[in-house]
Amino acid sequence: MISRRNFVSGAIPTVLGLGAMAAPGANAAGEMTLAEAGRTAGLLYGASISEEAFADPDYLDLYARETDIVTTDVALKFDWLRPSPARFEFERADAIVSAAKRSGKLVRGHTLIWNDNAPEWLRRLSGREVERVFDEHIEVVVGRYAGKLHSWDVVNEPFWPMDRQKGGWRNGPWFAAMGPSYVERAFSRAASIDKTAKLTLNEAQCEGNHEWGRAIRPPLARLIDDLLAKDVSLHAVGFQSHLQPQWPANYLEFADYAASFAARGLEIYLTEFDVNDQSFPDDSAARKTAVAETGAKFLNAILRAPAVKMVVNWQLSDRYSWYRELWRRNAPTSQRSPSPLPFDDRCRPNPLRAAMIGSFLAR
Ligand code: G3I
Repeated sequence: MISRRNFVSGAIPTVLGLGAMAAPGANAAGEMTLAEAGRTAGLLYGASISEEAFADPDYLDLYARETDIVTTDVALKFDWLRPSPARFEFERADAIVSAAKRSGKLVRGHTLIWNDNAPEWLRRLSGREVERVFDEHIEVVVGRYAGKLHSWDVVNEPFWPMDRQKGGWRNGPWFAAMGPSYVERAFSRAASIDKTAKLTLNEAQCEGNHEWGRAIRPPLARLIDDLLAKDVSLHAVGFQSHLQPQWPANYLEFADYAASFAARGLEIYLTEFDVNDQSFPDDSAARKTAVAETGAKFLNAILRAPAVKMVVNWQLSDRYSWYRELWRRNAPTSQRSPSPLPFDDRCRPNPLRAAMIGSFLAR
């Protein structure tokens, strides 16, 4: 049994556990868990986790029961690790990695290199200094967790058409200093330090048939072909899977696109799965049903590809979804709160949970 008290965190001022671990393959009600359904489908199932969860034992119990893998939501991001040039703040990530290990869970590191959310001090450096920080960051961070992570999102979101860069690249300190070569440099350096983590290129928006999805898919495929042609250690492609049903999508077409990377010998991970319900009815029950139907339609399409080896939700409960902050900013007067995840804001199952289990078991 895993006690609640074994999730000891340094920076987080409370002693927490991953909850009482339910009997393998069943939760308190004896139902099949998401992790168990995932295992029968040959999938690793999990969710991202951040420090807000540590103050909510009921939420931590969900991770204990329902997941086989967790992704660090912010703890391993550059801006959280490096509040200043000389400091590395590892407490949050260390707490997650050691607790997950004690609970027999795997960990995804997210994300080593991202041109977004760069701290001010990094943006002020010269190109040469940025390159030095880049190499040092990978050396120190990958070195610290070598052998401890299932996989790394080595580079997150390399493309962003809205930045109007030639080739559709996302702009930011790494791209500005090194151009597109930063991607190969990150993977090669990470591979030289951690020989076991599966090195992943993680991208957003590709699931949609909208302007952004259509703009990102071709350069992403070219980048992957270029990396593989150079024998760069790339093991998986991560598709974030933040579904946007308010925009055009053809999930069968996306499944064919994703499957083309399997032909290149890569695994496919769905790394940040949730369903934006902003365009669905105000009625909560109808909205949650529409989320479940959308999630099932997507999973039924993409799980046809045998190379899909992982499904990770971006948090587990609506209460901790990133959409809450987005809605607070974009619709401050709205009485609704988003419901994009398998559990509601009181950690009770949403219809999406059953839909996901159904899709896993139907694989
Ligand atoms: O916890 C602090 C809080 O103490 C403080 O008062 C508050 C003040 O702003 O900040 C809180 O931290 C916020 C953190 O989320 C909470 O976990 C940060 O400001 C906020 O920037 C951070 O946003 C995260 C964002 O990435 C940027 O790192 C979101 O939680 C996270 O869900 C989001 O995740 C991204 C993936 O990394 C990449 N794919 C898209 C996805 C959604 O945007």
